[in-house]
Amino acid sequence: MKRHYAAIAIVALFLAGVFIYGHKGSLTTHESSSPTTDARKHSQTTVVKPNALSFDKTQLSTTDPSSIWAVINKQHPLVPKTYTPIDLVTPSVALRVPGNQTMQLRSAPAAALETMFAAAKTNNLNLMIASGYRSYNYQVSLYGGYVSSIGQSQADIQSARPGFSEHQTGLAVDIEPLSKNCELAPCFAQTPEGQWLVTNAYKYGFILRYTDATTTVTGYEGEPWHYRYVGVELATELHTANVATLEQFFTVSGGTNY
Ligand code: DAL
Ligand code: ZN
Repeated sequence: MKRHYAAIAIVALFLAGVFIYGHKGSLTTHESSSPTTDARKHSQTTVVKPNALSFDKTQLSTTDPSSIWAVINKQHPLVPKTYTPIDLVTPSVALRVPGNQTMQLRSAPAAALETMFAAAKTNNLNLMIASGYRSYNYQVSLYGGYVSSIGQSQADIQSARPGFSEHQTGLAVDIEPLSKNCELAPCFAQTPEGQWLVTNAYKYGFILRYTDATTTVTGYEGEPWHYRYVGVELATELHTANVATLEQFFTVSGGTNY
């Protein structure tokens, strides 16, 4: 009789296992199907890591400064160092310095930024561009100002040398609240605006480029305001695969030394 009960218990456990496994699988599929059409397309191929096997890392250049996948750091300057993007535009959003060239971005990130700021607005969060495109010559004066005021070694962990800033690609943007609360300051990470961006920016093709956890890889202290446009496909892949930096994803050298 006891053996009979044991057999029933084993069958019941097996059926419960099948039910739970099946349920978990469908939940995971459902969760991974947001937020974009691209992400949905890829998520249908596998349940665990939607793009892990299918993502083609060689689709675009990581060295051409006009590529949205360009990896620019202290080991990899823009080539040529005086590169200028050809499609700079001023996004129709709030600007810290209206009319200034540093409010511009390339056309793709400009459009994506407009969509992202509009989405933030539906959550009552008002965002503003603090700094976008920076020319080689502008970076000469910006970096030089840092060196004069805080010395070269401190300057080097906060500001890129001319020819080494991803702001010069027209793909990077510093974002602040319209209120200027925590403007370009570490406390931006704790503001509702900073927290919304860190959660949602990838849906619009932007990634948070510099965190304190990745200084040895990126070469810079955390900058919770600095977002880099890489396109929705790559931003979603980095988010899904939980990879923090472009350097790690593409296995490109970086670090704090020039
Ligand atoms: N602050 C960033 C690293 C730049 O100057 O590009
Ligand atoms: Zn920046």
